[in-house]
Amino acid sequence: MDIKKYLQEKKEIVDKALENYLPNRTEKSGEAGFPTSLRKAIQHSLFSGGKRIRPILSVAAFEAVGGKGDKILPFACGLEMIHTYSLIHDDLPAIDNDDYRRGKPTCHKVFGEAIGILAGDGLLTKAFELMTKPSSGDLAVILDIVNEIARASGISGMVGGQVADIESEGKEVDFPTVEYIHTHKTGALILASVRTGVKLGRGDDETLKAFTRYGERIGLAFQIVDDILNVEGKAELLGKSTGSDLFKRKATYPSLLGLEESRRRATELMESAIDLLNPFGPEVEPLKEIARFIILRES
Ligand code: IPE
Ligand code: IPE
Ligand code: MG
Ligand code: MG
Repeated sequence: MDIKKYLQEKKEIVDKALENYLPNRTEKSGEAGFPTSLRKAIQHSLFSGGKRIRPILSVAAFEAVGGKGDKILPFACGLEMIHTYSLIHDDLPAIDNDDYRRGKPTCHKVFGEAIGILAGDGLLTKAFELMTKPSSGDLAVILDIVNEIARASGISGMVGGQVADIESEGKEVDFPTVEYIHTHKTGALILASVRTGVKLGRGDDETLKAFTRYGERIGLAFQIVDDILNVEGKAELLGKSTGSDLFKRKATYPSLLGLEESRRRATELMESAIDLLNPFGPEVEPLKEIARFIILRES
């Protein structure tokens, strides 16, 4: 299959749905139902060339287990809103203090820190507003999914990982700490994206188990590759600065294990993620290709 074409097609579907949920309706203050500055800040960060990997994973997993139609879209878009909020806050001076994201100046650079913080808060809460107003579906399944996404985003998931990340800056940390950081700050939401698709598509328990192990592996691999790209990637392709992890003495895979060993581990994770999907049919092909893409990506 042509993975580039697949990702492009799914990205367009996600982008259209996001625009529908957060319309760029007017320049006039108040007409969107909230202040213009907030709308502009959200638009700036949300519609600026993200890869949409999390929503695409949720759609791919949903379709792999036989899910049909667009009822996955509120969850796919919710996941992307939560991710985008996490990027806006991650870039703030108090956290990573970064100036570029998705090929543009970061949200706080353009709109100021206060609006940056509040745009993040707005995206996070909008995600839950969206996911808890489904047009159809089994409410027990939806409640379970929303609970899982909340857990993956919060103190036991991404927020916990972010705290460990900043508290490890400039310190000698051991391998379990780096693994904790990666599986929480990044892995948790990626895993939740895959599991959301399986749960909404009513995949059986065995499928959920296998896809969970797949999701854990690609989630960790994704952050190892993010670390590697921070060392040897091209800022123009990444749309964000490189070299910053070394400068800030971040706890990363390359800093602990070196580039070669980091690359080897990411590849091994990708291969074992793909192996886990081998018992399934052609319907899991996009998920296998996404695992390969995560390793080979340059942005
Ligand atoms: C970057 O995520 C931050 C991490 C969690 C590693 P992505 O690489 O998915 O960023 P976008 O959404 O494509 O900009
Ligand atoms: C980002 O981790 C994780 C979250 C935003 C939750 P990083 O700080 O390593 O990612 P980049 O390199 O800034 O995208
Ligand atoms: Mg960070
Ligand atoms: Mg960062």
